[in-house]
Amino acid sequence: MSPVLTIRDLTISIGRPLVRGISLDLTAGRIHGLAGESGSGKTLTSLAMLGLLPAHAETGGSIRLGEQEILGMPRRALNRLRGRRIAMVFQDPSTSLHPQLTVGRQLTDHVRTHLRLSKDAARRHAVELLERVHVPDPEHALRRYPHQFSGGQRQRISIASALACDPEVLLADEPTTALDVTVQAGILQLLRSLTEERDLAVLLVTHDLGVMSAIADDVSVMRQGRIVESAPRHQLFHAPQDEYTRSLLEALPGARDGRDEAAAAAEGGGGDD
Ligand SMILES: Nc1ncnc2c1ncn2[C@@H]1O[C@H](COP(=O)(O)OP(=O)(O)OP(=O)(O)O)[C@@H](O)[C@H]1O
Ligand SMILES: [Mg+2]
Repeated sequence: MSPVLTIRDLTISIGRPLVRGISLDLTAGRIHGLAGESGSGKTLTSLAMLGLLPAHAETGGSIRLGEQEILGMPRRALNRLRGRRIAMVFQDPSTSLHPQLTVGRQLTDHVRTHLRLSKDAARRHAVELLERVHVPDPEHALRRYPHQFSGGQRQRISIASALACDPEVLLADEPTTALDVTVQAGILQLLRSLTEERDLAVLLVTHDLGVMSAIADDVSVMRQGRIVESAPRHQLFHAPQDEYTRSLLEALPGARDGRDEAAAAAEGGGGDD
């Protein structure tokens, strides 16, 4: 299947080279995991896809969404893509949710602007989205504010908000890092099932290879602005080629057994939010 989004030889400099020529593909219905140590350039890479790099960042290479080159696209054109064709979920749900607006307002404003739905249709759409991400009592949830939900529920709401306009690409940067371990598995399982159902092309950024082992289809490992290894999950976990990848795998709790446990936990799902 041809990729939905392709990155070729992407470079990003902010005073100094930070991302130094990376290439990767995102395909519909698949999760591409981007792992690697802190500061390796994972977040910069996802910000580049959203056109959210600082204005003084210099970029090179290419990021194509379908046939369209989006690297260096005018800001206004990118604003139209963002949220509609490429959506995002961040580590901290409060980044994407406004504290002073009800959940209903946030979910409906968004779709009314982008999809031009009537007030009632937008409300029905919001209820369906909340049902889909398993937020209990959606009608009631729409009248509440983000702080009235637990961390896990808030992340579910921000996933609902990201999916509101039925995007092709979903970027999730450390979506479970801020959550309790017991809640993480449930959110990962939700991402997994949404990817398949909605045919999303997902980039999952995390420094946690345990998370990758549980849900990514393909994994790329970054170090110092470069991708050192990129492979289907099973290959990467069972026959890593790169020295650095091997050292990361060895560092996982319980090494090999730990990875199997992580996979089992995600498959089993559950966990209280
Ligand atoms: N706005 C900026 N100006 C200058 N340097 C930056 C800026 N944003 C990031 N950097 C630098 O770019 C490098 C890559 O940062 P990035 O945030 O992409 O790392 P990361 O892989 O996401 O790390 P983490 O796992 O900690 O989130 C780091 O050295 C960081 O200090
Ligand atoms: Mg980061």
